[in-house]
Amino acid sequence: MIAPHGGTLVNRILTGSAAEAARRRAGALSSVTLNPVALADLELIATGAYSPLTGFMGSADYDSVVAEMRLANGLPWSLPITLRIPSDTELGPGTTDELALHDAHGVLRGLIEVRGIYTRCTDVEARAVYGTDTDAHPGVARLYQESDLLVAGDIWLLERQVPPFPDLALDPADTRAAFERLGWRTIVGFQTRNPVHRAHEYIQKAALETVDGLLLHPLVGATKGDDVPADVRVRSYQALLEGYYPSDRVLLAAFPAAMRYAGPREAVFHALVRKNYGCTHFIVGRDHAGVGSYYGPTDAQQIFDRFTPEELGVHPIRFEHTFFCRSCGNMASPKTCPHGADTRLTLSGTRVRELLRAGELPPPEFTRPEVAAILAEGYNTVRVV
Ligand code: ADX
Repeated sequence: MIAPHGGTLVNRILTGSAAEAARRRAGALSSVTLNPVALADLELIATGAYSPLTGFMGSADYDSVVAEMRLANGLPWSLPITLRIPSDTELGPGTTDELALHDAHGVLRGLIEVRGIYTRCTDVEARAVYGTDTDAHPGVARLYQESDLLVAGDIWLLERQVPPFPDLALDPADTRAAFERLGWRTIVGFQTRNPVHRAHEYIQKAALETVDGLLLHPLVGATKGDDVPADVRVRSYQALLEGYYPSDRVLLAAFPAAMRYAGPREAVFHALVRKNYGCTHFIVGRDHAGVGSYYGPTDAQQIFDRFTPEELGVHPIRFEHTFFCRSCGNMASPKTCPHGADTRLTLSGTRVRELLRAGELPPPEFTRPEVAAILAEGYNTVRVV
C-alpha cells in the first residue's frame, strides 16, 4: 500500500472521554462559524485526506504554498488550506487559546488550538493560485467574499456532518482497507465534478487496462451553481457502473471536498489527496479542474513536471483531449486518430445543458443512454424546482 503524503495518515477525530472533555471546554471558548468549504476541510484534515496537514495552515506554510507550491518543510502542496475569521473579531495576534468551531446552525463540530492569527494578501493568493485576480473566476470570487484574517492551528473534529451519500462515505482509512481486501496493488484515482461521459469512460478504461483497480471519486462538496447537482451525478455513476464496468475492478466513493476551480494547482492537490486515499496513479486529462478559459488544456499536466516522481509519490496519467471519431468509429484522441475536426464529436457542458433544456438527449457517442436519461430526468426536476 502506498504511503500517505508525508508518511503518516493523520487522524484528528476526538472520541470517548477526550471528546466529552473537549465538549465541556468548548462552552466557555470563543467561537468561529465555519462556512461549507471550511466545514468540509475540517473533516478532510481530521480523516487524513489532507495528510500531512493536522490543522489550518499557519503563515509560514501559507506563504510557502502560495509562492512555491510546497509546505515550509519542502513537501509538495499546492493549495492553501486556511480558516477565515471575521475582520471585526476580538481575537488578536497574541491569541493562543482554543476556539470552538461551529457550523452555521450552531452545532459544535470541532476545536482549533490557535497557533497564530495573520492576514493574507488576497490579490497575491488569487494570482498565484488561480492565475487571475478577477472575481469572474468562481474560486477567486469566493476568496473576495470573506475577510483576509486567518487563524492557524491544529484542529480536532468532534462531530461529523451527515454525509449526503452514506453508502459512498469512505474515509482514506476505509478506501485503503477496501483496496487491501480487494487485493489491488495499483489503483488509479479519478476526480470528477461532472457526469461520466464517454470521454471520461474512455480514459478511465484506458488507465484500467494497466492497473488493478479504479477509484471513481466524484467530488460532492460545494460546486458552482451550473454544475450538475451531486445527487443526479451519483445516480448516473451507479447506472454507468452497473451497465458498463466490471464490478470487481471499480470502487465508487464520494469525495466531500469543495471545488476550487484552480486548474493546474488543484490537479496537484487532487492527486496528492487521492494518494492519501491509497491511489498509486491519478488521471489528469484535458483542462483538469478548469473553468472558462483561464487555463490551457495541458497546463494541469505540465505542472507535475515541477516535482520529482519521488516527492509526489502518486503517478499522474496524462490524457489529451478525447472524443468520439465518426471515421474511426470509436473513442480516440489526437494521439490515436488521424481524422479532422469535422469527424470528431465534442460537446461542451453548455451545449449538453441546451440539449436537455430543449428536451433532447445527448447522442450515444457522447453519453451512454442510461446516463442521458438520468440527466434529462434530473435536469427537469431541477428546472421545476
Ligand atoms: S474536474 O474536477 O477536473 O473539473 P471533470 O469532470 O471536468 O472534473 O473532469 C474529470 C477528469 O476528466 C479531469 O482529469 C479532466 O481533465 C478529464 N477530462 C474531461 N473531459 C475530457 C476529455 N474530453 N478528454 C480528456 N480528458 C477529459
